[in-house]
Amino acid sequence: MNYNKMTVSDAALSGKKVLLRCDFNVPQDKTTGAITSDKRIVASLPTIRYLLEHGAAVIACSHLGKPKGTWKESLTLAPVAQRLSELLGMDVIFAKDIVGEDAKAKAAALQPGQLLLLENLRFDPREEKNDPEFAKALADMAELYVSDAFGTVHRAHASTAGVAAYLPAYAGLLVEKELSVMGKALDDPKRPFVAILGGAKVSDKIGVINNLLEKADTIIIGGGMAYTFLKAQGGEIGTSLLEADRLDYAREMIQKAADRKVRLLLPVDTAIGDTFAADCTRKVVPSMEIPADWMGLDIGPETIKLFSDAVKDAGTVVWNGPMGVFEFPAFAVGTEAIAKALAESGAVTIVGGGDSAAAVEKLGYADRMAHISTGGGASLEFLEGKELPGVACLLDK
Ligand code: 3PG
Repeated sequence: MNYNKMTVSDAALSGKKVLLRCDFNVPQDKTTGAITSDKRIVASLPTIRYLLEHGAAVIACSHLGKPKGTWKESLTLAPVAQRLSELLGMDVIFAKDIVGEDAKAKAAALQPGQLLLLENLRFDPREEKNDPEFAKALADMAELYVSDAFGTVHRAHASTAGVAAYLPAYAGLLVEKELSVMGKALDDPKRPFVAILGGAKVSDKIGVINNLLEKADTIIIGGGMAYTFLKAQGGEIGTSLLEADRLDYAREMIQKAADRKVRLLLPVDTAIGDTFAADCTRKVVPSMEIPADWMGLDIGPETIKLFSDAVKDAGTVVWNGPMGVFEFPAFAVGTEAIAKALAESGAVTIVGGGDSAAAVEKLGYADRMAHISTGGGASLEFLEGKELPGVACLLDK
């Protein structure tokens, strides 16, 4: 995929109305609706400031949650408008609709240096269908389109891809940074290049493992998906997570690693529990010998050492997915140890979004990583080498 794209610094912005797609899909407290992490809002500030300082009038838009094309008061972007306003120290005009009368009137009246936020794009069913009329209605309010919603570039929706058919399309500073850091890791990594993949399911990481086997020097597999790999090698895995229909795939990947001389590291010991519960009985056993009726819930101390040693000497490390059930404190040890190993490594450390990013932030290591992606699914698809519709639609350099 070509990710050498035109950016806001290539655009003539002064006096222009800019439609800016952000990813304000922030976590909210289920009862109060309060924003529980404003990381994604903070990540959008450099581009918003850049556009405003260069004389643009900015019409920002985003989705929030999955309202599935219906109006859902609990998913209004009003709290995001408020938080944006606090962070920027300026008024944020909020539209009561997306491409309706209120949005159109407010967009038409918008002056250079002003910021308007439209209501949740996914309140309209046409957004996720990438409906051309809806895309055109969004485009009609502006003269330029800027994509800064890295977390959503893997979606071919009206606001992430369709709109580029009607407006010249540029990357924002966040999208530019995500593409350049992760692009370099894939194309021209400082070696040894170590990829650490975790998370529950092999099926979620099929494309990533396959693609990274062609790029990395070492691949480390932990988390729930490791048990399918262990079983594929003849291990006893008790009641651990198993994707029986992926055993052949796991064998293929083990073979591919051997053929390409990529070091594939699997857990050598495992922290197991007698039930899937935070207060279950915990013990550590060799990974290939998990007793029947017990399940693997985290990597063990020998594995922590093995994985951490691989990270220590790395030039580049990409990490996506936890090493165990880190929601249970007794089984968060492996994920925490990997976060620490990355923080202490001299490598270019890149953390995919989602759970691994949350772990790094919770442990206070965020400042010690080279890059923490704002994209969960998007960073994964990027690592798979897939074409991302929200990137492909931007003007090439
Ligand atoms: C995310 O949180 O990963 C992005 O905002 C995309 O959201 P989606 O999975 O609902 O499309």
